[in-house]
Amino acid sequence: MKIAFFDAKEYDKPAFLKYGGEDNAEFRFYETRLTPDTAALAAGCEAVCVFVNDTVNKDTIDRLVAQGVKYVLLRCAGYNNVDIEYAYGRLHVARVPAYSPYAVAEHAMAMLLTSVRRIHKAYNRTREFNFSLSGLTGFDLHGKTVGVIGAGKIGRIFMDICKGFGMNVLAYDRFPKDDGLAYADLPEIFAESDIISLHCPLTQDTYHMIDGDAIRQMKKGVILLNTSRGALIDANALIEGIKARQVGAACLDVYEEESSVFFNDFSGHILDDDTLARLISMPNVILTSHQAFLTAEALENIAETTLENLRKLEAEGFCENELCYRCGKMEECAKKRDRKCF
Ligand code: NAI
Repeated sequence: MKIAFFDAKEYDKPAFLKYGGEDNAEFRFYETRLTPDTAALAAGCEAVCVFVNDTVNKDTIDRLVAQGVKYVLLRCAGYNNVDIEYAYGRLHVARVPAYSPYAVAEHAMAMLLTSVRRIHKAYNRTREFNFSLSGLTGFDLHGKTVGVIGAGKIGRIFMDICKGFGMNVLAYDRFPKDDGLAYADLPEIFAESDIISLHCPLTQDTYHMIDGDAIRQMKKGVILLNTSRGALIDANALIEGIKARQVGAACLDVYEEESSVFFNDFSGHILDDDTLARLISMPNVILTSHQAFLTAEALENIAETTLENLRKLEAEGFCENELCYRCGKMEECAKKRDRKCF
């Protein structure tokens, strides 16, 4: 079995080599991203393994299929970069639905604490022997209200962490469960929350869910956390909200135009993206480059599940982590009847 890995970094390789070694799988690691233009690199491979910023659109899919590729293995949970509907009947697409929800939830809290307690500023100061406390006043998280949008695996862990801090937790989910969480509608989340954290997927419904109108409904000084997908927030509206002092701080692990910048070293270069440059220049914005998932545990889980997905698809023609655009309609789903999509 030959697998072409796209957007592969050094930190991706050890876990895949560990879990794939016994199968004599042949791995080709490419630093370049998968696009229609780079799809040719997968020639002779049965599978491609992709990450969040690879482009698996109609054109890419056609080119992969023409070369005999059968499987797209996402080594991530989100799949907004894959045209699932077009892939149906052409390629099997499998993902890693959960590799470490703790990694992402803990990173969200790390960013929140860094922002609220000005740790990023204090770190830089003390390295220069500046021991002044001026401008470092924070506030207690205890007793504050956090609104969590998306009460799935990561959102729930983040809520538990917040409860440990003695915070009041409100949850909004498009598909709320009867699970005892304090659910609220979006206007209520916007109006009541001191901190809002996004943990829902990027879909047509959620694109720019945090826009100028939403920000105007929020408490003055609200702190926004986004460790989910960049395009949940209209970045220009966020900048306006920060300039108007409506948004008190933003902690962003994702950014809507991140694909041309994140995961690469541009130090020493002039950043072309003025919106990103403006955000980074703001003293109350903390930005990490899609790092929330990056723990040793998560990398091991990603490799193990990705390769297990492939083994199952090859051996059984089925894997529970296979994605299908029909999955919302289980009663009509061929996979449910025959344990196969096509
Ligand atoms: P999940 O599928 O367990 O939970 C997502 C929740 O969002 C579900 O409860 C779902 O009902 C809800 N939801 C769906 N549509 C919604 C809408 N329109 N409004 C509000 N809620 C909605 O997913 P999980 O594992 O908790 O991941 C959440 C997101 O985190 C992923 O979609 C992904 O974009 C992001 N993520 C980011 C990572 C990073 O490194 N920054 C790593 C892993 C995931």
